[in-house]
Amino acid sequence: MTRGEARRPPQEFDRVLSSMCTTPHPAAREAAQAFLATNPGDPETYPAVAERERDAVALLGEIVGLSSPHGYIAAGGTEANLQAVRAARNRADADAVNVVAPASAHFSFQKAADVLGVELRLAPTDGDHRADVAAVADLVDDDTAVVVGVAGTTEYGRVDPIPALADIAAGVDANLHVDAAWGGFVLPFTDHDWSFADAPVDTMAIDPHKMGQAPVPAGGFLARDPETLDALAIETPYLESDTQPTLGGTRSGAGVAGALASLRALWPDGYREQYERTQGNAEYLAAELAARGYDVVDPELPLVAADMPDAEFQALRQEGWRISRTASDALRVVCMPHVTREMLAAFLDDVDALA
Ligand SMILES: Cc1ncc(COP(=O)(O)O)c(C=O)c1O
Repeated sequence: MTRGEARRPPQEFDRVLSSMCTTPHPAAREAAQAFLATNPGDPETYPAVAERERDAVALLGEIVGLSSPHGYIAAGGTEANLQAVRAARNRADADAVNVVAPASAHFSFQKAADVLGVELRLAPTDGDHRADVAAVADLVDDDTAVVVGVAGTTEYGRVDPIPALADIAAGVDANLHVDAAWGGFVLPFTDHDWSFADAPVDTMAIDPHKMGQAPVPAGGFLARDPETLDALAIETPYLESDTQPTLGGTRSGAGVAGALASLRALWPDGYREQYERTQGNAEYLAAELAARGYDVVDPELPLVAADMPDAEFQALRQEGWRISRTASDALRVVCMPHVTREMLAAFLDDVDALA
């Protein structure tokens, strides 16, 4: 690396509107740095980081309405979703297990199905991008190990009807997994039914490295029962610790320490303030785009989707805006904590300049 490269900042966030990650809280950045060389994958050898992981899981439990949470800080939502499917598969009493999820579920479920050798059945969404309950009910059967609901979908920020999905799961003796990887840090400040307190949820993904303002990598995998982690545990003969429920072996202590520091700094008041600000920004952007004649999907959470012709989308990218599209080609802007009103106003100026 040249000296110039060493000094070059890794990433500016002032035009990033498509990411579900954000700038970490300063305390989380500092904590992550201090724990760079620790490995929570071997908790007996690295007790300081192991203790922090227990504290982080306890705080995540408060956020998701679970008084005795079981879980760990994963690499991200992909790992948490995969582990939810793996735990359900390992506990299922069937040879040819299937997973039923809405078509809006994150693509990590495709990876999970592929890696774990289970069938993924995708149910269509309703007219408002939420899981269609009747379609989910049609797809489950006695071999369904887990039904998935998303609380904060990746493309439209929608919350699936979690209690109704829980009823369907219970009807076929399957687990209910809620993917709140992105939505989990904003939903406590809304009226949605999404948490362990709102329905008999078995497992959940909730990622500190998204709306939690923790440095990457910090996902959260949570379970209601200790048996879920038992179903994932592998014996680890050469380690000081006896078993390991995680998918990764050696893991980043920086992720764990960073997650705990951001949780301690921000839960609950900082996250509430963040929700109010980011939701306000999403509503502002949605209203401004609608006023300019774009067809906008109402932002239920801090995420705006709007129809935009491809030429305009590409021209905005040329201006340096990091924006992305949904599978059906809508513009998608995620109002993460680093997205300010000024950034959105500058974006809208560039939209106007296209005219
Ligand atoms: C709802 C949801 N689940 C899971 C994931 C995957 O998370 P990660 O990229 O941290 O593995 C994402 C990513 O954006 C997501 O939006």
